[in-house]
Amino acid sequence: MLEKLTEKFKELYGSDGEIRTYFAPGRVNLIGEHTDYNGGHVFPCSLTLGTYAAVRDRKDRTLRFYSMNFDSFGIAETSLDDLVPGKEASWTNYPKGVMWAFEKRGLKLTHGLDIAIYGDIPNGSGLSSSAALEVLTGIILKDTFDFDHISMTDIALIGQDAENNFNGCNCGIMDQFASAMGKKDHAIFLDTNTLSYEYAPVKLPDAKIIITNSKVKHSLVDSAYNQRRQECETALKELQTAADIHSLGSLTEEEFECLKGTVKDPVRRKRAEHAVYENQRTIRAVEALKNNDIALFGKLMSQSHESLRDKYEVSCEEIDILVNLAWAVPGVIGSRITGGGFGGCTVSIVKNEAVDSFIQTVGDEYLKQIGHKAEFYVVDIGDGARKLS
Ligand code: GLA
Repeated sequence: MLEKLTEKFKELYGSDGEIRTYFAPGRVNLIGEHTDYNGGHVFPCSLTLGTYAAVRDRKDRTLRFYSMNFDSFGIAETSLDDLVPGKEASWTNYPKGVMWAFEKRGLKLTHGLDIAIYGDIPNGSGLSSSAALEVLTGIILKDTFDFDHISMTDIALIGQDAENNFNGCNCGIMDQFASAMGKKDHAIFLDTNTLSYEYAPVKLPDAKIIITNSKVKHSLVDSAYNQRRQECETALKELQTAADIHSLGSLTEEEFECLKGTVKDPVRRKRAEHAVYENQRTIRAVEALKNNDIALFGKLMSQSHESLRDKYEVSCEEIDILVNLAWAVPGVIGSRITGGGFGGCTVSIVKNEAVDSFIQTVGDEYLKQIGHKAEFYVVDIGDGARKLS
């Protein structure tokens, strides 16, 4: 993989000078969905799938970008003096956004770069290929310009800033944090209110984590995401008329039940209910995992799906079919939608002996009902972003 990328780099940009290589992973969230912009907890882990970069310094202020994943797009050439978003810039808006966010913080990028990228995260699948690209750019800049005081948490925050303010998606911190801070065989129990976190070992000797890609992405994704966020913010304001709280994540279920009358609109009330209950469910799920109670963990995952489907309404027909099919397979411990929603992937925990029948049954039946194939990845949890050489 890396060899192919450096070969391609040399073919495109010439072979002299030092070439450095980097990697940033995609992520899957095990539980805690749509809680990260509500001051709640999330529980993602970084994958061994991710995005690689080969990079070389330039003497001028030119930037050249090339991705093996978008080969027909060719080499995009721009400059450090032209860090503005544009539709025609396509995927390069992600690295450019991070450069812009560094400069905005007074972190001066003093020379240009030649960059070539290759990623094995399926694009648009909800496994955070864009967050990986942002974090990848962050570690490239930190290393290239010796920004030693910039921590990996800073890199996640800078990536989120770029996503929010350069690329226009109002996402929370989860994806960038997971890509930057991941740890092999662990999930990250992150309190998005304080950014304090704890690594929890994911020891599953008898089971596998399987990601199923529905291969659909409904176009309302960004607008619906921003709308959900807005609904939660309004609900919080209404709740604040009755209680001194700073986020939905600071409420227990009981407190919410007492206060929920202040949220006038029933749809908005459902959204807030999801955010509160999902946060508490996440705390409980991590506790269950620590106690080695995988069955309870799986049950909470499945409850999370029901809430995302019925209260938060971010699922869709294809994903519900995948989850329903998964639930019906003996040996499936839990299954749910993962990520922002409206398509993308599900995450399931499946007993070792049921993996083959899971892929077979869910795969066949999905094809029959939806008319195209789903894709399955039996995944490993890998380390976060890092320099390779
Ligand atoms: C997307 C966002 C995250 C998070 C999830 C939902 O992946 O980028 O910040 O809000 O959706 O949990």
